[in-house]
Amino acid sequence: MEMLTVQNLSKVYGGKVTYRALSDINFTVQQGEFIGIMGPSGSGKTTLLNLLSTIDNPTSGEVLINGKNPYRLRKNQLAVFRRQQLGFVFQDFNLLDTLTLAENIVLPLTLDGKSVREMQEKLDAIAKQLGIHEILNKRTYEVSGGQRQRAAIARALIHQPSLLLADEPTGALDSKSSKGVMEALETMNRTGGTTTLLVTHDPQAASYCHRVLFLKDGQVINEIYRGDNRQTFFQEILNMLSFLGGNAHEFSAVRL
Ligand SMILES: Nc1ncnc2c1ncn2[C@@H]1O[C@H](COP(=O)(O)OP(=O)(O)OP(=O)(O)O)[C@@H](O)[C@H]1O
Ligand SMILES: [Mg+2]
Repeated sequence: MEMLTVQNLSKVYGGKVTYRALSDINFTVQQGEFIGIMGPSGSGKTTLLNLLSTIDNPTSGEVLINGKNPYRLRKNQLAVFRRQQLGFVFQDFNLLDTLTLAENIVLPLTLDGKSVREMQEKLDAIAKQLGIHEILNKRTYEVSGGQRQRAAIARALIHQPSLLLADEPTGALDSKSSKGVMEALETMNRTGGTTTLLVTHDPQAASYCHRVLFLKDGQVINEIYRGDNRQTFFQEILNMLSFLGGNAHEFSAVRL
């Protein structure tokens, strides 16, 4: 089943000098797919996610999420639609330091007025899946970056959104924590069927996806599918990145 359709999507930023950040983007995503989006710095990746999440408005073109165009919803309908259908994970975690991990994770359910018992059940289940069950009572500054990001993933998914949008979720992590976060996203995609769009500079992270779209200068210039072998896919992603050119540092942060 098609869960996301992007048709002729374009974004021109206004201001003194206008800038065409996205030009006629077309792609579709099936229910349950795990899609990577790669491309040099400035190629329009974050702009694309912002249009999908309705943080920003397209200049032209259409976005359909489960057959609905979010831009046609009225303001209060849109707020509900976003809360119920979308989950977000960012590079810098966006957790609240004054709350425990558990309190951060159940926050979206609190907004929906769910009972304490239901919240506790959902929290237990997702924390176990993500391997953060033992540290739920800690505060964000008492846990590692990888643990914080897995808590952010739990918060993004606890209300079972149909689409998870992740912008560089491993961008601030060392390679071991990145691996943990990617395995967490993969598990949630496989067991929960969460359709996932992952923006990343990291070919290792992208190799967890089913398919990777490559953006350059605001256009989708290629896509490659993963076969049965993640290592081969990783190599194909590297080849594509070097084929696209640009400086290596634009694609992946140096990992020490
Ligand atoms: N609010 C804005 N106003 C004007 N131009 C913008 C705005 N946001 C982004 N741009 C420009 O649009 C282009 C695409 O930006 P975008 O943030 O989508 O790139 P990106 O692929 O996410 O890059 P990075 O990998 O560095 O995060 C860039 O040239 C950027 O300078
Ligand atoms: Mg970006």
